[in-house]
Amino acid sequence: MAMMRIDKLVSQYGFGSRKEAKAIFKLGVVTVDGEVVTNPQMRVDPEISEVYVGDVLIEYEKYIYVMMNKPDGVISASYDEEEETVCDLLDESHQWHNLFPVGRLDKDTTGLIILTNDGGFAHRALSPKKHVEKVYVAKVDRELVEKDIKAFALGITLDDGYKTLPAVLEPMGELQARVIIKEGKFHQVKRMFEAIGASVTSLKRVTFAGIELDNDLTEGEFRRLNENEMNIISNLLSKD
Ligand code: URA
Repeated sequence: MAMMRIDKLVSQYGFGSRKEAKAIFKLGVVTVDGEVVTNPQMRVDPEISEVYVGDVLIEYEKYIYVMMNKPDGVISASYDEEEETVCDLLDESHQWHNLFPVGRLDKDTTGLIILTNDGGFAHRALSPKKHVEKVYVAKVDRELVEKDIKAFALGITLDDGYKTLPAVLEPMGELQARVIIKEGKFHQVKRMFEAIGASVTSLKRVTFAGIELDNDLTEGEFRRLNENEMNIISNLLSKD
């Protein structure tokens, strides 16, 4: 791990904004390997040095994984000059980690998006070879019938001639269905419905790679992945 400024480290681990973290140093409560540090500009290697704020050990995490319930109207990007991004919705302590969204949801799609600073995970999760499963709930403008279920199961030919992998369509009531796909082409779900003569009126992702959206998260809220969800990530990373 590269050296980093100690005020940035302290801020990242929940001790307030960088400015607030700086003030903590004046109190003489920050120690590095047992020595009091008052200079917030000092550089440390958080993987090697033991940093304490009072009696709280700063446990360095190389990679951070967060799930967010993306609201409508927010774009899946780290930064944008005009539009609000999913990263803008993170709190200050998470903004320091340079998280980015794993893949994209359309601006008007809601639901589960994973944010991380682990490029290796993102690469694997998005690799077309991995066939990572995504589950969506789509509202549509016409009733879905047996023929539609069969068409999804066979794979749908999109407007550009690409034939999708077999997908699962499970109608839920009259104008709603769960859709399970194992790839992530541009606007894929909307285009699959267009190809069978239906229009998506709203789309929400509920599962990504076996990780389910936490129903306690309201739109715009996020939380760290829990232990079970982290095991799913580790399994995905360990597979070839
Ligand atoms: N398919 C879509 O059409 N849009 C999304 O945001 C995700 C999948």
